[in-house]
Amino acid sequence: MDVKTDFLIIGSGIAGLMFALKTAAVGTVALITKKEAMDSNTNLAQGGIASVFGLADSFNLHIQDTLASGDGLCNQDVVEMVVARGPEMISELMDLGVQFNIRAAGEGSNPNDLDLGREGGHSKNRIVHAKDMTGNAVERVLVEQVKSHPDIELYENHIAIDLITCSTRIKRGMVTTTHEDFCCGAYVLDRNSLEVKTFSSKITLLATGGAGKVYVYTSNPDIATGDGVAMAYRAGATIANMEFVQFHPTCLYHPEAKNFLISEAVRGEGGILKNTAGRAFMGDYDPQKDLACRDVVARAIDTELKKSGEETVFLDISHKSADFTKNRFPNLYEKCLTYGIDMTADPIPVVPAAHYLCGGVATDMAGRTDIQRLYAVGETACTGLHGANRLASNSLLEALVYADASARHAIEDFKQAKSAAIPDPMNWDEVGTTDSDEAIMVSHNWDEIRRLMWHYVGIVRSDKRLARAKRRIDIIQSEIHEYYWDFKVTPDLLELRNIAVVAELIIKCATHRKESRGLHYNLQYPQRDDKRWMKDTVLRRPFVG
Ligand code: SIN
Repeated sequence: MDVKTDFLIIGSGIAGLMFALKTAAVGTVALITKKEAMDSNTNLAQGGIASVFGLADSFNLHIQDTLASGDGLCNQDVVEMVVARGPEMISELMDLGVQFNIRAAGEGSNPNDLDLGREGGHSKNRIVHAKDMTGNAVERVLVEQVKSHPDIELYENHIAIDLITCSTRIKRGMVTTTHEDFCCGAYVLDRNSLEVKTFSSKITLLATGGAGKVYVYTSNPDIATGDGVAMAYRAGATIANMEFVQFHPTCLYHPEAKNFLISEAVRGEGGILKNTAGRAFMGDYDPQKDLACRDVVARAIDTELKKSGEETVFLDISHKSADFTKNRFPNLYEKCLTYGIDMTADPIPVVPAAHYLCGGVATDMAGRTDIQRLYAVGETACTGLHGANRLASNSLLEALVYADASARHAIEDFKQAKSAAIPDPMNWDEVGTTDSDEAIMVSHNWDEIRRLMWHYVGIVRSDKRLARAKRRIDIIQSEIHEYYWDFKVTPDLLELRNIAVVAELIIKCATHRKESRGLHYNLQYPQRDDKRWMKDTVLRRPFVG
């Protein structure tokens, strides 16, 4: 079955859903998502959306905090645009029906009476939130809107294989592209029927979220396999700053907890990090102590763990009243209880885990990639907002602002593309392939990549570790390549292929940057070097003629 649509959106987080609602005003929209629509990084976002509402706050302060966190690599124009458009985008969400926490009567500190939380690196309270389940509150409303929209067709359980550019001519997405090409859709695998469908589109948006699954310990859901970045790279788009992987300092440490985040908002409300001896240690590392930027806190915990040989540190908010904690963090409280931890009385065991990819598909201020008619938004994109280290709760904000900006441009693009003749893409060709008889290759390499990335390309890196990682990933890549061409595609194989590409890109960028900055720390070059490295790391797939 083939699908023809005006706008093809890949991914159902906040960015994809918002873009769908906006572009459906002018054309038909097909939104594909690889599991259920609610399975996204957005849905798990606990903290909130950073934006300037406080009377004591200002755009300038939010801009300065974002730039400081980004450690010299933010694009100032982008930061200014995103910060300035925040309040308007939050109001839009409220108009759609999203309910954020409001202050109790008489406590109002801003015209909307929004309750504003605090997180690391912010000089003011500015985190708009819905208790400790902000992402879920936003996602629920947007999914409902999308599902009931007559011009949006939602394809759940559909996983994109590769983008189609107008010059695609070799089977199975080994795309040969020149940079004058434009994107005209994607090959997509229906997970239920295992049929590969050709989606042709005038405009395509990558909004596939992050790539936490490249690491063995992550706060991300299973869908976070970097699909958008990998597909864009294979299609010839420019990719930037992949070395800047953000490790969230506090994920629950428990043998049965798969990927449960303990929100930074807990530290924002007074939670204190302690070592096994019960000593608060963040004062040894940064004057902002527990509310230092995330890169600093994650590295401090890593150092504490290496020094002590212990497996975990603790986050203690037991000094606050039980009523306060239960009301402010109902989800965290309940979840911790299921693991036998009462956070109102006991410190919570926590460790850092891979959380957010600051790099991604390079875009301009309208979310355009350097392949025509291909846009990228949200964690998939590298817009210049986050620089070398994302400021907490700036990601949903970025997704909202860029979904809006890119929808505006995409609509203009679409009007021009409407009359242009677009060749029908070739159908998927699986001649000569058979059903896999060696699924062990997929599961073995999946585990190996995630472990090698954790051990060799984690919070603290070195030239030797990076070189080891490169050698391993090259071997794994060639095994995957061989397998991919011989057997019919499966969802697991596609995800493995994507995490391998993303791992390779992270290793390449990390190896290239000979300094330490933001989230990238290399023992051989422990200092920031503005003379040589105040620039993005940019990668493009070598041209295949
Ligand atoms: C958190 O709640 O700590 C996550 C917020 C974020 O990653 O911005």
